[in-house]
Amino acid sequence: MTNIKTSHSLKLVNEVLVLGLAHQSSGTKAHFLKIFGDDLIVSEAGLDLKKLLLMLTDLGASGSRDEVIKVALPSSSTSFEPRLILFTGLGESDSRYPREVLRRAAGAASRELSGHKSVDFYLPHSDLSELEAIAEGIHLGAYSFDNFRAVTKDQQKAPLKSVTLVTHLKNDGPLKSSLKRAEIVSTYVHLVRDLVNTPPSHLNPVSFSNDMKKLATGLGIKVEILDENQLRSKGYGGISSVGQGSSNPPRLFHISYHPAKPKKRFAFVGKGITFDSGGYALKPASGMEDMKSDMSGAASVIAATFAIASLKLPVAIDAYACLAENMISGHATRPSDIITIYGGTTVEVLNPDAEGRLVLADGLVRAAEDGKKNGGLDGVIDVATLTGAQVVALGTRTSAVMTNDDAFRDSFMAATEVSGESFWPMPLPEELREVLNSPTADLANISIRGATGRYGGMLIAGHFLKEFVPAGLPWLHLDIAGPALAEDPYGYVHQGGTGVSVRSLVAFVELESSPDDKKKSSS
Ligand code: BES
Ligand code: ZN
Ligand code: ZN
Repeated sequence: MTNIKTSHSLKLVNEVLVLGLAHQSSGTKAHFLKIFGDDLIVSEAGLDLKKLLLMLTDLGASGSRDEVIKVALPSSSTSFEPRLILFTGLGESDSRYPREVLRRAAGAASRELSGHKSVDFYLPHSDLSELEAIAEGIHLGAYSFDNFRAVTKDQQKAPLKSVTLVTHLKNDGPLKSSLKRAEIVSTYVHLVRDLVNTPPSHLNPVSFSNDMKKLATGLGIKVEILDENQLRSKGYGGISSVGQGSSNPPRLFHISYHPAKPKKRFAFVGKGITFDSGGYALKPASGMEDMKSDMSGAASVIAATFAIASLKLPVAIDAYACLAENMISGHATRPSDIITIYGGTTVEVLNPDAEGRLVLADGLVRAAEDGKKNGGLDGVIDVATLTGAQVVALGTRTSAVMTNDDAFRDSFMAATEVSGESFWPMPLPEELREVLNSPTADLANISIRGATGRYGGMLIAGHFLKEFVPAGLPWLHLDIAGPALAEDPYGYVHQGGTGVSVRSLVAFVELESSPDDKKKSSS
């Protein structure tokens, strides 16, 4: 992780300086550029503001969000002048910026500064939560994945190594714990990115379980792993049937973080398909490689639980990673096969490519069962790259939220304001439930209506999952199919696995465990 420290002084010590650039409209003039803190960078760092603004205009700078402009300065007599200034876009000039704008601006800068050793950041912030967002952006932007490079490894630039954050805020306990929180959360976002970026040749249900078990030690987390024989004999028909076509056997990986006197109890369930070929509904070759990301949900719920345990939050979490590889072979599930989900519901598998809901069904039933034994759950959240329909509906940067409890969903949405991750509420229209009525089993795994069965595919999947949640247990379904993987980098997001949902899950648990007044002010 990037080493971040703070300083009150703009008397710069490093060769690179990151500044915020905004645009300001005034009256009839179109707009002009505004460097954040321009008075201070002149009085303290001795920079020539006029020269900088001229340079920026010549370079065509607009100060818009996601714009990053580097200006190299000729060496001068001013002792505090950096050699390079990176201007990162803030959009319309304001007295305060949304935390996500700051996070993205900081992240775009740190991503662009890979290869640099030490950099000063001077970005607008009025309180600790905004400084924390900047720190988080820096960490998230400072990421690289080169585990599988050999001869091209040397050409890769290392993530930005150390940063001095210039701030007016007191360097006290709360500041230190904000920076620590940013580091912990980012560490676990990076873990999800690493897992998603690791190819299925090197990541399967067994290796996922073994590797995550090692990481759980030291965090006060209990681990339970069910292997393929236990899954079969105990009746986990969803995970077993999805995994039976592969020579990499399936697993249910379950971790428990149970602090003393928890304020609340939640369960997380994640879709962990380490590769989704589609099975006997084989996917077309073009784009199939993206299906290495089909374990994003499982990685996210495990990583979020690690983060929650690291932060020692007073909330009990049980997280279940439903792990299988969806492949074809003489053992694979056929379209029309009928399977029995944990707990007894039978499902006709009309389409073996709708496999995520099958493994999640086992996980949801198990989560509710454990919850009941442990004194009741306050809610269960599943996370899954579940449907192509999610990407069609909301694109690649906004995830969907479905629920059986609007108040529970509203609490989660408040947490996404804190995390900055984009989620959008989706309905579960009543009329879309009946299309799952199989003529031969309790349920079909896709709509039984042929041609029109694709309409509302994301919501039908939501309905399917809802069948496995006991009445009265608040439940959220997060479909992250699009946002889990980024085709191109932007802001603090790198190409590849994004780690989406980790930050929202952690923020949600934090809000749920904090006193009511804090809960209100943060939403
Ligand atoms: N893993 C896919 C969903 C997906 C698609 C994730 C694109 C990420 C990007 C899922 O298992 C799947 O194949 N779903 C089918 C369901 C259909 C057969 C009802 C789909 O969305 O096409
Ligand atoms: Zn599939
Ligand atoms: Zn899938």
